[in-house]
Amino acid sequence: MSESASSESLVALMRRVTVGVYVIGVCDGGKANAFTACSVMPVSFAPVLVAIAVGQDHASLPMLRASGHFSVNVLGSEQLQLARHFGASSAREHDKLAGIAWRADSSGAPLLEAALAWLACEVQQVTRAGDHELFIARLTHGSIRLPDALPMTYAQTGNMDGSADLYGQRRVSTAVSAHDRLSTPEHP
Ligand SMILES: Cc1cc2nc3c(=O)[nH]c(=O)nc-3n(C[C@H](O)[C@H](O)[C@H](O)COP(=O)(O)O)c2cc1C
Repeated sequence: MSESASSESLVALMRRVTVGVYVIGVCDGGKANAFTACSVMPVSFAPVLVAIAVGQDHASLPMLRASGHFSVNVLGSEQLQLARHFGASSAREHDKLAGIAWRADSSGAPLLEAALAWLACEVQQVTRAGDHELFIARLTHGSIRLPDALPMTYAQTGNMDGSADLYGQRRVSTAVSAHDRLSTPEHP
């Protein structure tokens, strides 16, 4: 069935663009922070480049711009609580790293002890992308802690990031089926 997408069908559509869920670590001037992100993607083989998209109002954004480094902590499929912890509040409200086991990479960016794997990245390019800023970065080092564990998928997080409201102002023409609702552990 073809229709002009309601915001509900647009949200459902975008959740089918499969991505994982990560905690991005940043450190500037000795102050560390971390936030949940699904907009993380490998973009080049040689050199190995990774891109992340960061919202304009995030406390992490000026830290990222200033430091030029970030870590990517890969979350496992059972770690919804960690995704919520780092994604539902800002460093402006409280220290999200308090009570969390982590160590610093060479730039000071947090590597979470619970993550399945870590990447350390050095920013090469920053560009405005709609209401986000796109950081393209070179992978400098990384390691896998749990080789057999399944990474979390964005679809598992339901509307944890509030994207159902964020897509609300856009009208995009799409073809959707009547059965476009996603079932997730959070929203069965
Ligand atoms: C599942 C999930 C995915 C998210 N993906 C992104 C993302 O890709 N980019 C982004 O900038 N924010 C994303 N967020 C929102 C940030 O994690 C959230 O706004 C956070 O509070 C920002 O923290 P800060 O202000 O301490 O930097 C996501 C949140 C959740 C729960």
